[in-house]
Amino acid sequence: MNLAIAGVGNNITALVQGVYYYQALASTHPQADLPGIRRPVIDDIPVDGLDFVAAYDVTAGKVGADLAEAIFAAPNNYPRLEVRVPTQNVVVEQGVVEDGDRDEQIERIAKSLSEAQAEVLLYSLPAGRKWAAEMYAEAALAAGVALVNCTPDVIARDRALLARYTEANLPLVGDDLASHFGTSVVHKSLLKLLADRGLTLTSSYQFNLGGNQDFQNLNAGGTEKKQSKLNALSVGAEAQQKVHMMPFGYVPQLADQKVAHLNIEGMGWAGTPITVDLKLKVQDSSNAAGVIIDLVRFAAARRRAQQGGFVDEASSLLKSPPGTPA
Ligand SMILES: NC(=O)c1ccc[n+]([C@@H]2O[C@H](COP(=O)([O-])OP(=O)(O)OC[C@H]3O[C@@H](n4cnc5c(N)ncnc54)[C@H](O)[C@@H]3O)[C@@H](O)[C@H]2O)c1
Repeated sequence: MNLAIAGVGNNITALVQGVYYYQALASTHPQADLPGIRRPVIDDIPVDGLDFVAAYDVTAGKVGADLAEAIFAAPNNYPRLEVRVPTQNVVVEQGVVEDGDRDEQIERIAKSLSEAQAEVLLYSLPAGRKWAAEMYAEAALAAGVALVNCTPDVIARDRALLARYTEANLPLVGDDLASHFGTSVVHKSLLKLLADRGLTLTSSYQFNLGGNQDFQNLNAGGTEKKQSKLNALSVGAEAQQKVHMMPFGYVPQLADQKVAHLNIEGMGWAGTPITVDLKLKVQDSSNAAGVIIDLVRFAAARRRAQQGGFVDEASSLLKSPPGTPA
């Protein structure tokens, strides 16, 4: 499938290297046995069936470089895997900027997407740039391309935009990835377990530390991430009140590793307490790529079937699908 990329950051470094990792493995491993993969094939598209056909960024060192080099340009700090990424023959193009002519930029990106025969545009910018998300969403719509939004910015939850994608038979998938095995899914599972076993939640908190660009950006605030992380717990509004989301901590020496701490305080038989304290350490951007690989294939499959709008199978891979609070 033909994938275009907006924002050549750590997520994309993990995604591109991973695709070549699985391509190398495919010759010796049965499809069903690929490590870290839940869905080896979606609608005839295997994990290594992605062609990167266009890419946009704004950072010097990335713009103008072949995608195979741009993924390793600073400040990306995802590790280099033991895999060779060949020249992609895709030069990273200038992305949209806030103070440029809006219509002209949308037209330029739409033309580039059409010429590249992109099926899906993956939106993977820093969180909190709604103006950019909307411009790429307009460009994809104009070019007849499906959109996947990795960020907590309100795009698939924007009812009017979703209606326009539905009308155009184009899939719109978002918002915000629920990492492959991240704090949100672990926290959600433990809260559900507590409720299933009949215990009462007293209080809970979650904090996340990391050393990549995403953490630096989230640490600066001004994004929809906090609400999105609460949405990801899939608990009611009353339980949400009991969960405290600590601000994101930026610790440069962690690079692309994320350290998360979870605390859950509950009450069991006769009001006696239980406490869960859990530490999770993960490769942050692998966690993103592990779900992106399914989201983009879901979107491509639906587009090929000429079915527009949200893709229901994607819900469990997202923190904030349509219908959750913005
Ligand atoms: N586990 C995860 O890593 C995870 C989970 C959920 C959501 N997300 C979200 O995914 C997004 C991407 O994460 P990342 O770690 O790759 O971020 P990143 O900061 O490493 O990469 C963002 C890229 O976007 C580029 N960019 C900035 N403005 C642009 C513009 N106007 N046009 C084109 N490109 C532009 C930057 O130069 C950079 O290359 C973030 O919003 C993050 O919150 C990540």
